[in-house]
Amino acid sequence: MLQSYCLKLPTAVYAGEGALEKLDGIIASREPKKVALFCDKSIFDLGLTDQARKIIEARGIEVAVQSDLAIEPTYSEVQATVDWFAGEGADFILAIGGGSVMDAAKLVSVLATSEYTVHDLLDNPALARKQVYTVMVPTTAGTGAEATPNAIVAVPEDELKVGIVNDAMIADAVILEADMIKNLPRKIAAATGIDALCHAIECYTSTKANPMSDTFALEAFDLIINNIERACDDPEALDAKRAMQLASFYAGIAITASGTTAVHALSYPLGGKYHVAHGVSNAILLSPVMHFNEPAIAERLAAAYDRAIHAGAATVEEKAAAVIERMDAIVEHLDIPKKLGELGIEGVPIDQLAEAGMSVQRLLVNNMREVTLEDAKAIYAQIL
Ligand SMILES: NC(=O)c1ccc[n+]([C@@H]2O[C@H](COP(=O)([O-])OP(=O)(O)OC[C@H]3O[C@@H](n4cnc5c(N)ncnc54)[C@H](O)[C@@H]3O)[C@@H](O)[C@H]2O)c1
Ligand SMILES: [Zn+2]
Repeated sequence: MLQSYCLKLPTAVYAGEGALEKLDGIIASREPKKVALFCDKSIFDLGLTDQARKIIEARGIEVAVQSDLAIEPTYSEVQATVDWFAGEGADFILAIGGGSVMDAAKLVSVLATSEYTVHDLLDNPALARKQVYTVMVPTTAGTGAEATPNAIVAVPEDELKVGIVNDAMIADAVILEADMIKNLPRKIAAATGIDALCHAIECYTSTKANPMSDTFALEAFDLIINNIERACDDPEALDAKRAMQLASFYAGIAITASGTTAVHALSYPLGGKYHVAHGVSNAILLSPVMHFNEPAIAERLAAAYDRAIHAGAATVEEKAAAVIERMDAIVEHLDIPKKLGELGIEGVPIDQLAEAGMSVQRLLVNNMREVTLEDAKAIYAQIL
């Protein structure tokens, strides 16, 4: 357990019935000249930005829409968005989307008027300074990016995804609007839901875990374990979907106060090299990494069992095994591939992948059991 710890949060979080209507009050109090609205093409085409645009335009304020954001963007793609923003003269950011959109918006919020580039932040994240007031409306449940100080970009030349972390990127306000995730396609709900599950269990079993992160990680774990399948399977299960939306936000707070571990660390090369969706690469690695970590985290897994699963396990070992089994069963139930081969990825250079994974020391240092290069190779060998 860490000696000292800290929790940083967005200033305001709106949730529950009609949450998006609260945007009107935010706009009224900030009085922006022009709002930049970030989303991706699917979000725009689905009409998920319509209500927000109406609310802002009803106050006579112009909205510049950037609906072309890339999914899991490279740092150059995000730089193009920063440059677009600089040309628009907007003074308020509204991001409506999944982690891809929110991460791009966060980087814009700290780079809008500075001489630094996204690439500069890769080398030195401490350069980031908040420059534009930012509101996040997540449409997946999810990355929890609406809560975290992290922005993840792909670095194609290194075949890796890299996290840029700076508190200045924490959103000023967050709106958890249930309508945004009501019609989330099952495949996306499943992958992004497993991402949130990984955030919760990794942060709870991290060397950085502390009483504050534990509070959010355990609640998120409980909500996800007991709602994810219904939220994905049943289009009418609004209560389960709302639970997942809250859980994903809580798990984001757990990331902010603690940190993810070897699942996320080893997942980044799969995203960087093979463009496996973030939630899917985490789902594939979850079971092998949890089995590897089990001897070091059994007590913590047992505590997670006591909180969320009540199925008759008695000893610490039984409870720890039951948690891993339950997570495995969820991945199976949600039809997420467990092997790279199922995604058509063959001829994987394990040595190269393991070296790339080992470079993500930012997260590997959080893992309770030390991961060596040989361990990383053995873990990747299990997912071929
Ligand atoms: N900043 C952080 O703390 C953090 C944490 C975890 C992951 N990430 C990053 O976030 C990115 C992944 O984000 P994500 O998993 O939210 O997915 P995403 O934003 O990449 O979106 C995935 C797909 O879902 C679609 N989509 C999103 N919302 C939808 C909706 N309501 N209805 C229909 N389709 C919808 C998108 O258009 C896209 O095609 C990755 O780059 C990952 O590395 C960031
Ligand atoms: Zn994640």
